[in-house]
Amino acid sequence: MTQPPAFDGNRRLAGQTCIVTGAASGIGRAIARLFARHGAHVVVADVTETVLEGGEPTVGLITREGGSAVFRRTDVSDAQAVEALVDEAARLTGRLDVIVNNACIRHARRLTELEEGDWDRVMAVNLKGVFICCRAAARRMLTQEIRNEARGRIVNLSSQHGMIAAPDDLAYGVAKAGVAYLTGQVAADYAGQGIICNAVAPGKIVTGQGGRLLDEAVLDRARRRTPWPRLGHPDDVARAALFLASGEASFVTGINLMVDGGWMAA
Ligand SMILES: NC(=O)c1ccc[n+]([C@@H]2O[C@H](COP(=O)([O-])OP(=O)(O)OC[C@H]3O[C@@H](n4cnc5c(N)ncnc54)[C@H](O)[C@@H]3O)[C@@H](O)[C@H]2O)c1
Repeated sequence: MTQPPAFDGNRRLAGQTCIVTGAASGIGRAIARLFARHGAHVVVADVTETVLEGGEPTVGLITREGGSAVFRRTDVSDAQAVEALVDEAARLTGRLDVIVNNACIRHARRLTELEEGDWDRVMAVNLKGVFICCRAAARRMLTQEIRNEARGRIVNLSSQHGMIAAPDDLAYGVAKAGVAYLTGQVAADYAGQGIICNAVAPGKIVTGQGGRLLDEAVLDRARRRTPWPRLGHPDDVARAALFLASGEASFVTGINLMVDGGWMAA
């Protein structure tokens, strides 16, 4: 029987090219940083370099830590821009090993208060953006040879919202449900061709976003709902993304891995 390939636990992405969308801030920034520490050439794809939580831009931080990263201004809802991003990333090392589809926007409204234009924009970034990025990455990966059992790996960011209601936040939850579905479908359709596609579903992760997400009532609800005695940190999600992006996750495809301190289990 064929054995799963070996992997280096210390530098799990050594020499690999990895795009991380929405990596200027929050969870994407933590993923980019951890991937770079594991030897990846990281392409930070975002609409801005400004760090929501403050601090120096992701690429500067990674470079200062001895890692390899470049910034490419990209709107994930723009198919042409995403195709150019994938082409350019693949030119770095001759292949695109990993894409992490993390970028998102938020516009929390319940059904009766949600304008069509706002629904469309949330869907354009949070769901269509994931479709566009998966399609561009998969097209590229299909042209690559198999390495460590895979032509390439896709990691999507879903959410526990999308499985259970996101209170007063219809469009976000619907988009995240779509991301979870899309992940399984892509995994099933392309497993035979060596493309691995998984999702990470964070629970409440404290990042730098302001507004409603740092609202004491929202945080209090999250604390009451989360069995683990703290809320999540971006690094909790980054570690799960690293597992799914690396050869350590062998024979794992189509999953939606909860990183939620037990929220969905309680
Ligand atoms: N923070 C949480 O509690 C939580 C919970 C569940 C799921 N998630 C998911 O994790 C991911 C990251 O969340 P976060 O809290 O770090 O978000 P964040 O708001 O801190 O960061 C989102 C990043 O996406 C970028 N972005 C926005 N629109 C873009 C576009 N059109 N193209 C490219 N980049 C764009 C932003 O500039 C920003 O850097 C998202 O997919 C989110 O839905 C987060």
